[in-house]
Amino acid sequence: MEKVKLVEGLEFSRIIHGQMRILDWNMSSAELLKFTEQIMELGIDTFDNANIYGNYSCEDTVGKALLLKPSLRKAMKIVTKCGIKIMSNKFPKQKIQYYDYTHDYIIGEAEKSLRNLRTDYIDVLLLHRPSDVLNPEEVAKAFDKLKKEGKVRHFGVSNFLSHDYSMLQSYTDEKLVTNQVEISPYGITHFENGDMNFFLEKRIKPMAYCPMANGKLVVPTDEKSERIVKVLKEIAEELNVDGVDKVIYSWLFMHPSTIMPINGSGKIDRIKRSVDALSLKMSVEQWSRILTASSGVPLP
Ligand SMILES: NC(=O)c1ccc[n+]([C@@H]2O[C@H](COP(=O)([O-])OP(=O)(O)OC[C@H]3O[C@@H](n4cnc5c(N)ncnc54)[C@H](OP(=O)(O)O)[C@@H]3O)[C@@H](O)[C@H]2O)c1
Repeated sequence: MEKVKLVEGLEFSRIIHGQMRILDWNMSSAELLKFTEQIMELGIDTFDNANIYGNYSCEDTVGKALLLKPSLRKAMKIVTKCGIKIMSNKFPKQKIQYYDYTHDYIIGEAEKSLRNLRTDYIDVLLLHRPSDVLNPEEVAKAFDKLKKEGKVRHFGVSNFLSHDYSMLQSYTDEKLVTNQVEISPYGITHFENGDMNFFLEKRIKPMAYCPMANGKLVVPTDEKSERIVKVLKEIAEELNVDGVDKVIYSWLFMHPSTIMPINGSGKIDRIKRSVDALSLKMSVEQWSRILTASSGVPLP
């Protein structure tokens, strides 16, 4: 599979596998290991996690599977995130969900991720969401410490708007390697707010989460998803492909910013279908019909 160079010394597979829903798959550690190996046989070597997934337990689930075959670790890229403090029975005194990017919290969460994932380094640590109280000097110091200690190799962000990204970047010598944002034919905010052009300008390769809009583009649940799926189906027929998922992935691949979609499926055949979509080509007209179906208004 095509590799995407993010910075010197860091390449991701073009498709990434997402581990947010791992608990839903009800896999034993041995089954999860086998599933991971099958994914890697498809050429996908980059995996996306976060400290909070599965009520703070998905990293540990992955770590238990990796314990069965520690040699696999070196062949993978592990991306994880910190910063969001969700409401959880694990922290009963916490009163609201909020974001914490204080120096010690970042370090503590990164170290927890290392323990949970049973690894001694994280390839990329992302700040999960921007925060109004994020102190960029503190963040930069935390990045330096984690980097110097060899605990984290690279840093990036998620859900940052372009001004959030530029602000943080201006405080750290570490090149932020990616911004993980929601992009799909349903989620086109980053086309509308100029972020996609910011990515192009700054040579940032975005990771795209929820490519199926949480499944809404498979089973439409509202008028907007129905409108988009109708067009996706027409285009699937025109391209002679057997499902809208392949059209969605192809739509993401076509954008010049080199979008790296995160496939969140627990089914190997569905992951393979996203790989198959790498060879699918649509026209500019077809791409634009999908965008227009999403916005609901014709291009001027
Ligand atoms: N940074 C952030 O704020 C953020 C937020 C959300 C997610 N993420 C990351 O993005 C990853 C993907 O997000 P997501 O799981 O919401 O992605 P998604 O692709 O929008 O949704 C995946 C869901 O759609 C279902 N699905 C049905 N048909 C599918 C097909 N043909 N291909 C793929 N999925 C299909 C899957 O079920 P089956 O398992 O039954 O196939 C799964 O429940 C997550 O695992 C996480 O790593 C990041």
